[in-house]
Amino acid sequence: MGWSIPDTLDAWYLVAGADEVRGRVRPFAVGGLQGAVARTSEGLVALDAVCPHMGADLRLGTVDRGRIVCPLHGMGFAADGRCDRRGVPSARTVPVGEACGAVFVHPGAAPGPLPSCERWPDQAFVWSSARAFRVPVPWRTVLVNAFDLHHLDAVHHRALVSPPVFENPAPDRLRMRYATRVVGSGLSDRLTRLLATDQVDLWLTSIGGPVMTVEVDLGRTRTAAVVGVVPDGEGTWLRLAVGVPQGFGGALRARIARWLYVTFLRQDIPVLQGVELEPHSDLPEDEPVQRLLAFLDERAAV
Ligand code: FES
Ligand SMILES: [Fe+2]
Repeated sequence: MGWSIPDTLDAWYLVAGADEVRGRVRPFAVGGLQGAVARTSEGLVALDAVCPHMGADLRLGTVDRGRIVCPLHGMGFAADGRCDRRGVPSARTVPVGEACGAVFVHPGAAPGPLPSCERWPDQAFVWSSARAFRVPVPWRTVLVNAFDLHHLDAVHHRALVSPPVFENPAPDRLRMRYATRVVGSGLSDRLTRLLATDQVDLWLTSIGGPVMTVEVDLGRTRTAAVVGVVPDGEGTWLRLAVGVPQGFGGALRARIARWLYVTFLRQDIPVLQGVELEPHSDLPEDEPVQRLLAFLDERAAV
């Protein structure tokens, strides 16, 4: 079957780490939507990049109190888009929110609930966001790779110890639960083994398509991550924030966990070039990929 998944889905997109927007304007681009986002004294402000006064680029603006200030004539625009000078039209606002150490925008008009981690509802996490990196493959390939358990052994040195279980916790969510054992001997493998009593028990949830949460029980500790993809031509921007349970040395533990996640993700980059969306087989190992593609196809039709 051919998949017709458009470049922009009606979903939340991860555009920055929570600590990257403090007091400064960050640009974002999701499909045809270009905008500016900042954390101001009044909270998050996300606006279309085009200033409604004379069209200057708000992505080059600055933050002043609760507003994004246009770089050309210095007028400010608040979270509701309103200009601080009467007689100037409002800027177009973009739905924005913050969760799991990350900032999300939504290109549609009626966003659903923000991405969330659900496995341990009472657990408070300390989050650490990684700098965005671009991978030279389409975003759909990146998502398919996350659900492709068949490559865990060859690329990530993990052996699957229990078959995946699927569920749809909400209409816009597809979850895959599975467990692996670390079999590699690299530095990140040894460190992960040190943190894991036996197996690594994982919940991977696609939220609307472009965002995934990864909730990992290592036995001795837990980690959570939120990973977002944003299409960029033939490539993909990948962003993530990683959380560890609050407590002693939280910030340092979060950075170590972040390094483990980034190392894991980077193992895929050299082998993904040219990879197709769909396996040419009917092996049982390929089922997770088929499930994800069907889910994305369904989301595309929403
Ligand atoms: S163009 Fe933005 S304030 Fe004039
Ligand atoms: Fe992978």
